[in-house]
Amino acid sequence: MEMKMAMTNKLAPSILNADLAALKDQLAALEQGGADWVHLDIMDGHFVPNLSFGPVLVEAVRKHTQLPLDCHLMISNPEKYVADFVRAGADSITVHQESTVHLDSLVRVVKGLKNRAGNPVRVGVSLNPATPIETLDLVLSELDLVLIMSVNPGFGGQKFIPYALDKARKLRAKADALGMALDIQMDGGISLKNAAEVIAAGVNVIVAGTAIFASGDVAGTCRQMKTLMG
Ligand code: DX5
Ligand code: ZN
Repeated sequence: MEMKMAMTNKLAPSILNADLAALKDQLAALEQGGADWVHLDIMDGHFVPNLSFGPVLVEAVRKHTQLPLDCHLMISNPEKYVADFVRAGADSITVHQESTVHLDSLVRVVKGLKNRAGNPVRVGVSLNPATPIETLDLVLSELDLVLIMSVNPGFGGQKFIPYALDKARKLRAKADALGMALDIQMDGGISLKNAAEVIAAGVNVIVAGTAIFASGDVAGTCRQMKTLMG
């Protein structure tokens, strides 16, 4: 028996390409625009060919917004760092399926952590474009979120990979069949042009970076994105 869960659609702007020298104002603009989460792209130059920022920036962001902080760990050996990101202020931790050989235990470690407000940290797993959703079958029921990458991770401003939509459709059907209120997040190459299509595929959390921060109107673009997402 399929039980379609009514999921709320959420916008999680990525600050990777924000003006980090004006971070406080950029976060205020996200809030004015109705963003739901702040997406922080953590990159170590090893798991992905780019270096971004670590817990110290999460801490700085934590000081200037009450929005949930959604940390996307594109790093090797994530088990060594998840507690540091939670201490810095993360509310949700997403690790890559491809970044650990001990995914079951890592998911349980993250679920055992408490955020600064004392609430359970939400746990997500991200899949690179070529990684099948079936790799999560045995841990899916433990997850709050699955992040389906629609670009090869490491950089903002890349071209959307359309087959990510097929993965989202399959995963939403799987979650509905299990009666799971699973957040399905998509990340990379999403703009005002394809946001509605991404939602129609069963995604309910959209990450957008370049489309928002290169638009010249951060708050206005967030509002437009939210309207398109329904
Ligand atoms: C890529 C990151 C994305 C990126 C945002 O590895 O995970 O979140 O920063 O992508 P764009 O700029 O395409 O929205
Ligand atoms: Zn990301």
